[in-house]
Amino acid sequence: MGTVTVSGRSVPVGCGLSMFDPIYLGRDEFGRPVYVRLVYKNLLSGGEPGSGKSTLINAICCHAVLCTDVRLVLFDGKWVELGQYEDVADKFVGPDLAAAIITLKRLQTVVDNRYAWLRAHGRRKIERSDGLKVTVAVVDELAYFSATVGSKQEQEEFSTLLRDIVARGRACGVIVVAATQRPSGVDIIPASLRDIFGYRHAGRCTTADSSDLVLGRGWASQGFDASTIAPEQSGVGYLLAEGGVPVLMKTPWMTDGQIEAVVDYAAWTRRTHTIPDPAEVSDIAPTLVAA
Ligand SMILES: Nc1ncnc2c1ncn2[C@@H]1O[C@H](COP(=O)(O)OP(=O)(O)OP(=O)(O)O)[C@@H](O)[C@H]1O
Ligand SMILES: [Mg+2]
Repeated sequence: MGTVTVSGRSVPVGCGLSMFDPIYLGRDEFGRPVYVRLVYKNLLSGGEPGSGKSTLINAICCHAVLCTDVRLVLFDGKWVELGQYEDVADKFVGPDLAAAIITLKRLQTVVDNRYAWLRAHGRRKIERSDGLKVTVAVVDELAYFSATVGSKQEQEEFSTLLRDIVARGRACGVIVVAATQRPSGVDIIPASLRDIFGYRHAGRCTTADSSDLVLGRGWASQGFDASTIAPEQSGVGYLLAEGGVPVLMKTPWMTDGQIEAVVDYAAWTRRTHTIPDPAEVSDIAPTLVAA
């Protein structure tokens, strides 16, 4: 990250990350860095309150905003967990189920259009070289939308739309990262939605059953049990991703100020519609001004 000076003016230099690059999510119990490639994948994080779900989501968002090929769509039942990214997101939905449903329908249209494009080109998935943006839909407090506010019918509509995007979006570059306190039972997150997230992250859970609900049945009995994580170990969790076996890891904690600095920088590098003052830029790009 940094700037170059052109004719006495500071010009931001983007760090050129891509959603096709591995994302740094923290360190494992042996101190090794944990990287995960999220493109073509969806990730669900679950765990008790304060276990570090939003911390993990923040790490992903910070990578995403610094990418040159990402569009962010944010759903935050709490306003404040993802609120800092509002200025660099295409859409930010707060605790508003009706707005969340409309936004998911728009995403569904994006998915449909992209598949029409892929079909027309005889292809099955997008590639980095296509130059298409990866849309990253981040849902914090998933249960707020799927089980807490609105009517039963609206909650079901939200879950059905999200399920469709999780199921169909991957190959065309629309991926979902979601967090919820306990993804249990039919009433909180429908199993049909929970089970199609390929990657899982379990922060501390209260029971081995809850841990299995997040990671998948059977992992606790094999020793990968998020209820064994001590309550004071915020940010520690099991990540089930590449490799196919859960990895015990800790996500780095970022202060509000650090997130603000990343977002501020990202906003600076992302601005695309600045109308230059001709007097200011005439020495840099005379032809542009003449046009
Ligand atoms: N890696 C970390 N190192 C140190 N402290 C951490 C770390 N991760 C989280 N914490 C602490 O834990 C608190 C809760 O973390 P976080 O907000 O990510 O939890 P959560 O699982 O999203 O909780 P909730 O379900 O209430 O939204 C943070 O405010 C922070 O104080
Ligand atoms: Mg949270």
